[in-house]
Order: sequence, then structure tokens, then C-alpha cells
Amino acid sequence: MAKLIGGLGTSHIPAIGGAIHKGLQQDPYWKPFFDGFPPIRDWLGEKKPDVVVMFYNDHGLNFFLDKMPTFAVGAAPEYNNADEGWGIPTLPPFKGELDLSWHIINTLVEKEFDIVTCQEMLVDHACTLPLKLFWPEGDCPVTVVPICINTVQFPLPKPGRVYALGKAVGEAIKSWDSSKTVAVIASGGLSHQLDGERAGFINKEFDLQFLDSLESNPEWITQFSVHELVEKTGTQGVELLMWVAMRGALAAAGGAKVRRVTGNYHIPISNTATAVLALETV
Ligand code: DHB
Ligand code: FE
Repeated sequence: MAKLIGGLGTSHIPAIGGAIHKGLQQDPYWKPFFDGFPPIRDWLGEKKPDVVVMFYNDHGLNFFLDKMPTFAVGAAPEYNNADEGWGIPTLPPFKGELDLSWHIINTLVEKEFDIVTCQEMLVDHACTLPLKLFWPEGDCPVTVVPICINTVQFPLPKPGRVYALGKAVGEAIKSWDSSKTVAVIASGGLSHQLDGERAGFINKEFDLQFLDSLESNPEWITQFSVHELVEKTGTQGVELLMWVAMRGALAAAGGAKVRRVTGNYHIPISNTATAVLALETV
């Protein structure tokens, strides 16, 4: 059976793509963010996952307001990047892991998650930036199963539901008939609000409490409704739901306990509180 080795989390602000493109990693503005990655790359170099399951949120590229799935699973042989602009070159397509995609889809429907199945799927910065941050050199060495969670148009799924989805995905990974090793990635957050009266809102205290809970008490976040989450983290801060799904998958794989390999929290990049984290199943 496949092995789920751990979970990674990172923010996905589009400006990060511009900074990579321009080689600004050592620039004083960017350094505190990019400094979070070398220890994660060391861990990935040691563990060498073959496949990643990526929880991310589309921003209106593949799904728009006319058709908005709550949960969508990619089942494509490859995924093409077509970002929203910002002048960043698009990245080459990356490869899917079809067999695991279908195993996850079958498992989720069996466990009563009525997902949308996508045999074609364009992906935006939320999907491409984590791959470029974790594997900056050359071609992406992992195959990918993207799982999209709606954070764009209400109603959004509540944290408890997303945690349950993550658990079901973790159970699917664990029962995948393959000798491959798998890591789960959360792309998004943490607290940020891009628009409206509270534009620029960041909640460091809540973010740090959330990051702490991922290690010691992962169900802490499930006490909040999605509206409470917006209040505490900002309209776009709800992207932290990706981290909730990632932690749910680890809970299914290794029980309640995880080991924190490394982590970083930095405010702000653009309008966002950034976090980077690696958790290992024990
Ligand atoms: C920003 C953050 C995001 O998560 C995003 O998708 C777009 C922009 C920002 O802070 O600029
Ligand atoms: Fe985003």
C-alpha cells in the first residue's frame, strides 16, 4: 500500500511568482518568507515523495461564479497553468497521477462526498506556486492530484466538513494499491482580506493559535462556523481551510500525532500573513 509521509503548507500570493521570476529571494522584503523553504527542501530531499495531493482553491480561473463546485478532484493526465496575469510567465504543465485520482474519487463518493470530477482542469497560482517553492530547480519531480475547495462563492464548506474531507482523502491514500510515497500539500492563507472595508486585515494571534493547533489539537478549528472563520481571518483568510484538509489527511494516516519538521510565519507579503510548515506522520 502507498505511504503518506507528511503534510506541507504554504501561502500562495501571486507576487511570489514575480519574486521568483525576478530572483528577489534575498531581497530584504522577500528574504523572511523565502528563508522558510530550505529546511523543507532538505526534508523533501531526504523523503523524496513520488506523488503529492494538493488541496488548493481556484480563484475564478477553472471555475467561475456560474459553476462553482464545493469540492472538485482532478483526474487529468496533466494540468496546464493559465494564471490571471501579473506578468509572470506560465509554468510548463505538470503531470497528474491518474490512478490515485480515481482511487480518491471512488473513495470519496463511497464516503458520501459528492464531488465534481475534472478530467480537464486549468490551474492557477494556488496550484503552481507551492510546486515551484518546494521544488525550485528544473522539472517538477512529483506527480499531482489537485483537490479544489471552494473559497470564492458562498456557501463555503465549514471547517468540520473540510476536516472530514481531508480524513477521507487520507484514508484513500492509505488504501491506494501502490508502492509510491505520497505527501499532502495545503496551499493558501493564512489570514488576509483583499477587498472591502477590512482590506489589509491580518490576525496574527489567531493564525499562531491555528498553526499550534495543527500539531497538538487538530480538531480545534472545527468549533468555528465558516462565517466565524471569515470574521477571524478575513474574506480570503478562509483559504486556511486547505490546511484543515491537509491535517485531516494526516490524522487518517498516522492517528492524532504528527512531528513538526519546520515552520515559518511572516507578516506581511502583499496583503497576506504568510506561513510555511512541514508536518511528518509518526
Ligand atoms: C493575494 C493573496 C492571495 O491568496 C491571492 O490568491 C491573491 C493575492 C495577496 O495578498 O496579494
Ligand atoms: Fe489566494
